[in-house]
Amino acid sequence: MNTTDPHATPPRGYLSCVGMGMTLGSHLTPLARSHIQKADVVFAAVSDALVEAWVRTLHPDVRSLQPYYREGRSRMHTYREWVALLMGEVRAGRRVCGVFYGHPGIFAWSPHKAIAMARAEGFDAHMEPGISAEDCLYADLGIDPGRFGCQHLEASQLVFFERRIDTGGYLVLWQAGAVGDRTMTRFETGAAYRQVLVDVLLEDYPPEHEIVVYRAPTLPVQSPRIRRALLTDLATMPLTAEETVVLPPASTLKPNARVAARLTALDAAAGFPGDA
Ligand SMILES: C[S@@+](CC[C@H](N)C(=O)[O-])C[C@H]1O[C@@H](n2cnc3c(N)ncnc32)[C@H](O)[C@@H]1O
Repeated sequence: MNTTDPHATPPRGYLSCVGMGMTLGSHLTPLARSHIQKADVVFAAVSDALVEAWVRTLHPDVRSLQPYYREGRSRMHTYREWVALLMGEVRAGRRVCGVFYGHPGIFAWSPHKAIAMARAEGFDAHMEPGISAEDCLYADLGIDPGRFGCQHLEASQLVFFERRIDTGGYLVLWQAGAVGDRTMTRFETGAAYRQVLVDVLLEDYPPEHEIVVYRAPTLPVQSPRIRRALLTDLATMPLTAEETVVLPPASTLKPNARVAARLTALDAAAGFPGDA
């Protein structure tokens, strides 16, 4: 800002939240990179110290959000602090970029909250998508969500609330390692809590149903980690905070005879012969 001109317009704060993608260096889009490089200040919540060091090569003022996690304190507290940090700089008239691993809007509370808050206060704000664990999962596991449909749930939500699972499609469970943690202080809850998840799933799936535990590579030298097991093994098998659990379909799609009759009538009225 030109401090000698009393009529100069003060700089307007601006917020972007961008995704880093999952794999270091190779997933960052040109647009996300441009948001980082044009920012006055960058805040980073990325998967590990190596990735964070790489973000530092893109901008001279990168501030880590990782130290705000505190042992035994709710992650919601940390996430609110992140929003306050981002918004503090936006309100001070700076261009702020929050860098989050994967996609900044997928299973990520703070970017959505900060963007909504910035807009409510009259600032421009933008979310720039990134390659999520979800995208990697489709590629590495050969799943097309359009084939049978795909339901994505936070594992804890599945045990806290009465949800309806559609076993005709894929079920993708996020944050399964911390399932059942009502305090939001733990990254891993352990076998007894996971058994609660298994018991909920057993209401819809047979015990021998296959599950896939998936970890997308975060470094270019890594390969995807894909472990297959039985549903009943889910409680006791090792599971990290960086893994996502997939349940393939357990039932075949049932044709909807009522709707088929209606479509047949419409086809006939429109002069189409019927089923192809
Ligand atoms: C807070 S969410 C963040 C997701 C992230 N925003 C994204 O776009 O993928 C954390 C959850 O993402 C999934 N996740 C994180 N890293 C992963 C990885 N390397 N491979 C597979 N899933 C991962 C796990 O389900 C984990 O519990």
